[in-house]
Parts: sequence; structure tokens; C-alpha cells
Amino acid sequence: MPEEKKTPEAGANSCAECNRRKFARLGLGSIAIAGAGSAVFGYEFLSPNVLYEPSPIVDAGKPDRFPQGSVTPDPQNGIYIVHGPQGIYTLQAICTHLGCLTAWKPDLGIIACPCHGSKFHIDGERFDGPAPRPLPWLKTWVDDEGNLLVDRSEPLPRREFVRI
Ligand code: FES
Repeated sequence: MPEEKKTPEAGANSCAECNRRKFARLGLGSIAIAGAGSAVFGYEFLSPNVLYEPSPIVDAGKPDRFPQGSVTPDPQNGIYIVHGPQGIYTLQAICTHLGCLTAWKPDLGIIACPCHGSKFHIDGERFDGPAPRPLPWLKTWVDDEGNLLVDRSEPLPRREFVRI
């Protein structure tokens, strides 16, 4: 079989063709990557910047879960549900000093802040420490299904009790 002889010009031409194809592939690849990046950026830019917050309303269940004289901390929702002699009420568990989560101390019968030592009576009044205000009372009511609901977004201007 006769061997095909390549002239130097033919080799140079095929190599030039090779380089053109490589260059075209590289160019198309770069354009595709830039286009994908622009599409992602455009989607992020055009999608609404919304934060979905949980509802401020807490369903605490049936009021008989809270017997007379009980203090029920709910650290997940940042509240205490208290059943005092006048009825049920809810305190916000966030310290009014710098916002630490307070803790119920059943052996002492007080609410204490672990951060800077503020102490509160079970009606929320501060009696020690740097907290400038009492723990706020929160709107609490019983709905049509008989469940105790608490609105964490609305501190009460005055004390209100749920009588059951
Ligand atoms: S945050 Fe509670 S005393 Fe400072």
C-alpha cells in the first residue's frame, strides 16, 4: 500500500483547522458559562426578597393543661404561661435588658436572666438587676375550639387574665 505523502503545506493547513476548531469550542464554552452565570444572577435579582417568619400566634392547647398555681415555660416560643389565682396569663420570656432568654426557677419561685442577673417576680415585675422594664404580658385568649392562644406580637398595655 502506497504511503500518502503529506506536504508541509497540507500539515500546516490541517493544524490551522485544528486550532480554529479548538478556539471555536473554547469560545462557545466561555459564552455558555457566562450565559449560565448571568441567568442565575438574573433569577436571584428578579426573585422577590421575602423573609417568611413564623406566625406570632402560639396555640398552647387546652387550658386544662395549665393547672392552678403552675408556671409553664415554653422556651421555643419565648413565653411563660402562668395560672395564677386570678386566671391564666402569659409573660414574654425575653429579658428587657439585652434580650436573653430568661429561666423559671421553681425552687425560688422567680424568673431569672442568666446573662446579667436580672430577676423578675412571677407577675413579670423586675426586682433585681439591670433590666429596665418588667417582662411584658401578652394577649392571651381562648378560641372557638377551646384552645388557649397567645399573640407574641402584642404586649398588653395592662394586665388581663383568662378565666376558665
Ligand atoms: S439580658 Fe437579662 S439582665 Fe442583661
